[in-house]
Amino acid sequence: MTKHCLVTGGAGFIGSHLVDLLMDQGWNVTVVDNFDPFYDKSIKLSNIAPHRDNPKYRLVEEDIRNLPGMREKLNDSYDVIVHLAAKAGVRPSIQDPVGYQEVNVTGTQNMLEFAKERNIKQFVFASSSSVYGINPNVPWSEDDHVLMPISPYASTKVSGELMGHVYSHLYDIRFLALRFFTVYGPRQRPDLAIHKFTKLIKEGKPIPVYGDGSTRRDYTYVEDIVKGIRSAMDYDKTLYEVINLGNNKTVSLAEMIEAIEQTLGIKAIIDRQPTQPGDVPQTWADADKAHRLLDYEPRGDFSREMARFID
Ligand SMILES: NC(=O)c1ccc[n+]([C@@H]2O[C@H](COP(=O)([O-])OP(=O)(O)OC[C@H]3O[C@@H](n4cnc5c(N)ncnc54)[C@H](O)[C@@H]3O)[C@@H](O)[C@H]2O)c1
Repeated sequence: MTKHCLVTGGAGFIGSHLVDLLMDQGWNVTVVDNFDPFYDKSIKLSNIAPHRDNPKYRLVEEDIRNLPGMREKLNDSYDVIVHLAAKAGVRPSIQDPVGYQEVNVTGTQNMLEFAKERNIKQFVFASSSSVYGINPNVPWSEDDHVLMPISPYASTKVSGELMGHVYSHLYDIRFLALRFFTVYGPRQRPDLAIHKFTKLIKEGKPIPVYGDGSTRRDYTYVEDIVKGIRSAMDYDKTLYEVINLGNNKTVSLAEMIEAIEQTLGIKAIIDRQPTQPGDVPQTWADADKAHRLLDYEPRGDFSREMARFID
């Protein structure tokens, strides 16, 4: 029988790439998304446009904070939930910690309740590298339980991981928390640095650079993330796992800007700004566990994929 995946946040950047893959593989897919105004709805509508008329695809415009609404509108039987819906910005979470808590914590709890009520036994959760925060022991390994989050956003992702443990233990729901490391690629959210800088440099406008350019990120290509999610959907060994999905390499902010300059053939005008609260100095994934459990092998090469993104 054709399997059915419920994807929350499926109109967004990562979600829409996952939906593309699932549709290619013949899944039935239901997307729950409320088109959160964090960025333009038209971008999300264009992300999902290819599937709107496919009978195997269903879009449910609903807010994950509204559990009764989901109970009413989601009537199919689902084999797996991939829960990606969230308020996703680090810096904006400092201005709106309660809003982040409501969507990312209560919303996640609602999805877990939904899984419990409907007997859905596989739950994949989008966590984040930001849970490690300022833990200095890089590359970060899942075995290192010293989490030092420094933004409300990061703390909501820690909460999601812990709630998942509770539901997996009490209700036998297999819960995979995947810690994504800075994801980039086509359709990247407009608030993220690569997207924002590319646009400003092309327009000849100054780019705000926070700090001296030495902060480092483990940039992960969206196709690699989607393959990791897909593999987690089939994982059937243990009931609860936390798994890094990163690229296992780091790129400094200065190198990232240089890569954009080279691809565009335009020199950036730098508007140097102080380091922002909530920003961590580095992220770096140990990807061994993902390799062992999910057969995960990131293939995205930063300069090559940057060129594709800019295209
Ligand atoms: N992009 C990254 O680098 C990155 C890194 C780590 C973790 N993540 C996590 O991955 C997931 C997907 O991120 P993304 O970059 O694709 O972000 P995105 O903003 O493009 O996608 C999130 C989607 O969730 C939807 N959404 C938000 N609030 C909702 C609500 N209350 N009810 C229903 N839908 C709602 C939004 O409309 C959006 O379509 C998020 O959970 C994010 O925290 C992303």
